[in-house]
Amino acid sequence: MSRFTRFAGSVIEAVLTPHAVDRYLELVDPMVTWTEIRGRVTAVSRRTDRTVTFTVAPTRQFEGFQAGQFIQVSTVIDGVRQTRCFSPAGSQHEGGELEFTVTADADGHVSKHLREHLAVGDVLGLTPAAGAFTLPGEPGDRPGRIRLISGGSGITPVLSMLRTLVDEKHDGAVDLLHFCRDSADNPYRAELDRLARFANISVTYVYTRAGGRHLGAEHFGQLEDFGDVGLACGPAALLDAAKQLYSDAGVELRVEEFTPPVVAAPSGEATGTLRFTEAGTVVDNDGRSILDQAESSGLFPESGCRMGICFSCTAVKKSGCTSNILTGETNDEPDQHIQLCVSAPVGDVEIAL
Ligand code: FES
Repeated sequence: MSRFTRFAGSVIEAVLTPHAVDRYLELVDPMVTWTEIRGRVTAVSRRTDRTVTFTVAPTRQFEGFQAGQFIQVSTVIDGVRQTRCFSPAGSQHEGGELEFTVTADADGHVSKHLREHLAVGDVLGLTPAAGAFTLPGEPGDRPGRIRLISGGSGITPVLSMLRTLVDEKHDGAVDLLHFCRDSADNPYRAELDRLARFANISVTYVYTRAGGRHLGAEHFGQLEDFGDVGLACGPAALLDAAKQLYSDAGVELRVEEFTPPVVAAPSGEATGTLRFTEAGTVVDNDGRSILDQAESSGLFPESGCRMGICFSCTAVKKSGCTSNILTGETNDEPDQHIQLCVSAPVGDVEIAL
């Protein structure tokens, strides 16, 4: 085969598979893409000990978002593309750049990397916005009284809603109840104080390290404190309490569970070994997801949502039986593509990692 034929073949293959075109284009400029969405980091600030706030100018393919939705953001760490879901904090009506704030979890591989290393000029991968955690109604026709509840990094989609309502000149009452460790752990304290100067907006902080009570009935003195609708985002315990309170009050509540479900090892039931064939590593199966067990053994396979949504953690199971953590279905066929984040070994399993 001549060099020209090989070149022509590459071009034809690239044209037939748009993502392949982007692989060529990124060699020229990572911000020049045909189909994929990318974003260049335009500003970075580290307002608290644990957070990084940054703005991203997306490529032309990005079509906007609704307040409360999330975007999958990917970056390359040690040669492996890693993806996580983050919610923009800005108003859905702003257009232009996207603002994110990421909190570095103690065991958060990606969040810690962004907190420590993200710099202006970096290029991140982005996806279209997704998620059903959005404001009810349409701009100009929202419920009159809106109660927002957030905990920790759950502030970002909630702040996006607050900023959106301000842009829409919503004149009904908007009451935000925000839980965080202490004042110094709130990257948006100054912005929330500014927004609280609007006559129809109130912001209440609960500092848990200062003895602030977790969400309970005492935060709702009367029925109207629930609003016509509640919107809550934060840790599972906060959302569980909110669901119970709103159910008892008979008021609609929308929640965004930004923490992936924790899958506990079935005590005493986990058996066999988990073998990562490319790394040559063998660990005793402890019953957690294969992704968790891979990371605990020092591997960092590509991953994203950790909830079975994005498929970025897909790898080939060479042999053995796995159980889908979400559905309970088992799979004992060899050479199957499985999602590591929602698959647990059932006995001896080999994964091509
Ligand atoms: S990390 Fe998203 S599906 Fe596994």
